[in-house]
Amino acid sequence: MEKLTVALLAGGISSEREVSLNSGDQVYEALDKDKYDILRYDPKTDLPRLVQDADRIDIAMIILHGPYGEDGTVQGLLDLLHIPYQGSGVLGSSLAMNKAATKLMYEKAGIPVPDYRIFSRYDPIDVDACAEKLGSPLVVKPVVGGSSVGMSIVRSAADLQGAVEKAFEFDSAVMVEAYIEGVELTGGVVGNRELEAYPIIEIIPDDAHDFFDYEAKYTAGVTQEICPARIDEELTHKAQSYAKKAHRALFCRGYSRTDMILRDREMYVLETNTIPGMTATSLLPQAAQAAGVDFTSLLDKLIELGMEEQ
Ligand SMILES: Nc1ncnc2c1ncn2[C@@H]1O[C@H](COP(=O)(O)OP(=O)(O)O)[C@@H](O)[C@H]1O
Ligand SMILES: [Mg+2]
Repeated sequence: MEKLTVALLAGGISSEREVSLNSGDQVYEALDKDKYDILRYDPKTDLPRLVQDADRIDIAMIILHGPYGEDGTVQGLLDLLHIPYQGSGVLGSSLAMNKAATKLMYEKAGIPVPDYRIFSRYDPIDVDACAEKLGSPLVVKPVVGGSSVGMSIVRSAADLQGAVEKAFEFDSAVMVEAYIEGVELTGGVVGNRELEAYPIIEIIPDDAHDFFDYEAKYTAGVTQEICPARIDEELTHKAQSYAKKAHRALFCRGYSRTDMILRDREMYVLETNTIPGMTATSLLPQAAQAAGVDFTSLLDKLIELGMEEQ
């Protein structure tokens, strides 16, 4: 079989640049060199070269997180260049990147979400109204973002204003959400027409971390990840079906990973990642491994799905 030329995109200009570069290296290592010739591009500096090379690229592997990578912009460029890529297209990527749009789509699809309010920069923040509607503690996050950047948990009303201002440093819209105390779960799905759900992972940050924040996400040993999650069959099925529903509600393609919190057998869906972390030990590759699919085979699968007629 003739080798495919794969354009591996990693780096970029978002706050998750370092994470992306690390994932990019690991994806490069894991890709089967008997099947693929790999060309590497960092969108921060190499977009003109990507455009020039377009005709000889069979598929792109986008390993970029956050704005200008996971949000549909790079996907749009690749569409214009007629280069297929793994995962979601422009629509799914941009819907999933925006936590306010995500909520609307989830709610329409009957997916349970924590209560929330959205503020734009010039809206007055009514601290009492927030507390009354959403209770306490509260979670404050930029509407567009990822890796928990700019996010805070607010346990006292006096801290809300400061937390909102911090989130505004990252986006012009901010979401204030009811805090759900419970077990954190994440569910990966893979497929185009037929979606397969991988085993659910349970995420336990250590006691020094209030939630799955940036440090807990990327510092080895800080967070325990248990796959399959220690939940019964009924809850597993429920989490997997929400992961599939969320994927479809956001018009995702190929694969995605949906974050959830379980409290008293009730599940609340937080968000869907269209380009989940892609080191060999990241959550989705771990879940695939638990389903018997090693990292190299997972990448083969994503490429195969990306090349399929949509
Ligand atoms: N409503 C919530 N209740 C409890 N914890 C939350 C809530 N929202 C977010 N978190 C915590 O913050 C982390 C990041 O939030 P998430 O919405 O997944 O955004 P992102 O991963 O894109 O930064 C979650 O994994 C969870 O630990
Ligand atoms: Mg998340």
